[in-house]
Amino acid sequence: MKTDLTILVENTTSHQALIGEWGFAALLNIDDHKLLFDTGQGDALFINSLQLGIPLEETEEIVISHGHFDHCGALLKLLKQIGPRPVTAHPRIFVKRYAVAPSGRRIEVGCPFSEAEAVEAGARFRYSDKPLEIYPGVYITGTIPRRTAYEDAGGRFVLQSGEDLIEDYIEDDMALVIDHPQGLIILSGCAHAGTVNTLEYAREITGKRHIQAYIGGTHLMNASSERMEATLSALLDELPDRIMIGHCTGFYPAAQLYQALGHRVVKIDAGSHFTFI
Ligand SMILES: [Fe+2]
Ligand SMILES: [Fe+2]
Repeated sequence: MKTDLTILVENTTSHQALIGEWGFAALLNIDDHKLLFDTGQGDALFINSLQLGIPLEETEEIVISHGHFDHCGALLKLLKQIGPRPVTAHPRIFVKRYAVAPSGRRIEVGCPFSEAEAVEAGARFRYSDKPLEIYPGVYITGTIPRRTAYEDAGGRFVLQSGEDLIEDYIEDDMALVIDHPQGLIILSGCAHAGTVNTLEYAREITGKRHIQAYIGGTHLMNASSERMEATLSALLDELPDRIMIGHCTGFYPAAQLYQALGHRVVKIDAGSHFTFI
């Protein structure tokens, strides 16, 4: 199960010709199935794929990790460019939602388009809030159960429910899990469900314990010291081979992960490329 992975959108890049953008997108080539996990929010997907010589037209399927603008924002432009494609997502990605700043100000952070606009642009949605095998050995998790006491959504988020604003624990946050012979490969956009919850649910779905790589955001950037401590202790308990972090991890949490786990921790950025054989 050869798996090639290229990070197309990430907050940072160390490649001269590429651009960084707040968000995440990764192109996967799994035994010749080409799958795009997230789209980023704006132009980075298009500029970076062009600079890297990656034809987006070859993308067979798109998976959206959750309905935040920095993960799905470029979907319409992408579909208009490459034509209709299957889009696998959680049924709750289109809720109207906000992040709440410490001042109390609400900032809209949901998908910047409606479901109807996405369908019009060529999205053929396949929704699932449950684990779903999309290719042999490749799963989306659907809603990830929140089992740890110390993990939360990673910030203050609210969503529109009728006339009311209620807490948004981002139930649509889901991961992609590849049941690779050398160990699980897990991709997450933001891990609003919590990194430890995400790893454990991937293990539960596949019945495999060994994790070869976790790749993506961890949303530890606002984590309390208690959460950091408990997260590090859970990771040390049953170590993944690689924790490849970026996006919403935050500098100090990344430094703490590196200090605790050493070279298992890898900083990803736009243009990072990995092969799992
Ligand atoms: Fe994000
Ligand atoms: Fe997010």
